[in-house]
Amino acid sequence: MLGPVLLAASRSAAIRRLVSAAPVTRPMVDRFIAGERLTESLGSVRSLTARGLDVTLDHLGEDVTDRVEALRSRDAYLALTEALAAEGLAGRAEMSVKLSAFGQALPGGHDLALANVTPVVEAAAAAGTTVTLDMEDHTTVDSTLAILGELRTRFPQTGAVVQSYLFRTEDDCRALAGEGSRVRLVKGAYNEPASVAHQDKREVDRAYVRCLKILMAGEGYPMIGSHDPRMVAIAQDLAHRLGRKLDEYEFQMLYGIRVAEQERLVAEGHRMRVYVPYGTDWYGYFMRRLAERPANLTFFLRSLVGR
Ligand code: FDA
Repeated sequence: MLGPVLLAASRSAAIRRLVSAAPVTRPMVDRFIAGERLTESLGSVRSLTARGLDVTLDHLGEDVTDRVEALRSRDAYLALTEALAAEGLAGRAEMSVKLSAFGQALPGGHDLALANVTPVVEAAAAAGTTVTLDMEDHTTVDSTLAILGELRTRFPQTGAVVQSYLFRTEDDCRALAGEGSRVRLVKGAYNEPASVAHQDKREVDRAYVRCLKILMAGEGYPMIGSHDPRMVAIAQDLAHRLGRKLDEYEFQMLYGIRVAEQERLVAEGHRMRVYVPYGTDWYGYFMRRLAERPANLTFFLRSLVGR
């Protein structure tokens, strides 16, 4: 029940001010965020890669309200690309971008986001890495997939994200399961209406398995973005039955969540990519992590009241 309230709060400026100013927020945020600065996040990346994990970096930011901010997002990713190349990390670290940070929701936003993200994808390719387009709320899916299609004509390795809670996603998986595609399958983290998305968690899980089957049986490279032990086990079983080798799919989990499981999968020989968010604009990301797990919220509320 609290999930939708928290997801609504994740877009409220007043609650953002309140939560950001509370001193107890910081230690909770640090659990999920690699740091506010690029240099701190690179330290985390080095430590993760030294332990055999791969990485996708997210420069935090979403829902920008003007073109200047959108350009700042682009520049932050260009600086990140340069740093990854300079540190010799481009082979182990890719980047995840939210198109709303590149201006997608502004007037003319589709073209603006494409124009802003293209130099990042070009720079990533030149540096030997790639970009995955995160998926945001359902109103952005058509635009994001169209931008993906444009980018893939020149940079076929550009990754997509699909969310199993959306009714449309099985069809999207079929369309995206072709040769050379890289598709991250997640359950979905936004507050979606019953007209477009499953509301029952069990239905979301069932849809996840159906999507997993489509992607695993396809010709692309599935990226299993889930902390759910059942989804991980089903993915392993499908890979085995369909004869996929260990380098023909990968697991992905978020920074700070189920770390022991991340290391267990690496020890078993799997490719495990950690999604590493960094930057100052952590509020929306943080609230979505609270919404996903009541235990995180309880811990946070107890800290707020000093118990
Ligand atoms: P589920 O929510 O059922 O959780 C399974 C178990 O995982 C829990 O029982 C708990 O042990 C653990 N867990 C899950 N969330 C936790 C949390 N916040 N804190 C602590 N433990 C937790 N979404 C989206 O809409 N667009 C996107 O682009 C992405 N991108 C993305 C990338 C990657 C790499 C991952 C792993 C996830 C995303 N997501 C996302 C988020 C995704 O949609 C989803 O909200 C979360 O992954 C939680 O769903 P699970 O599949 O982990 O299962």
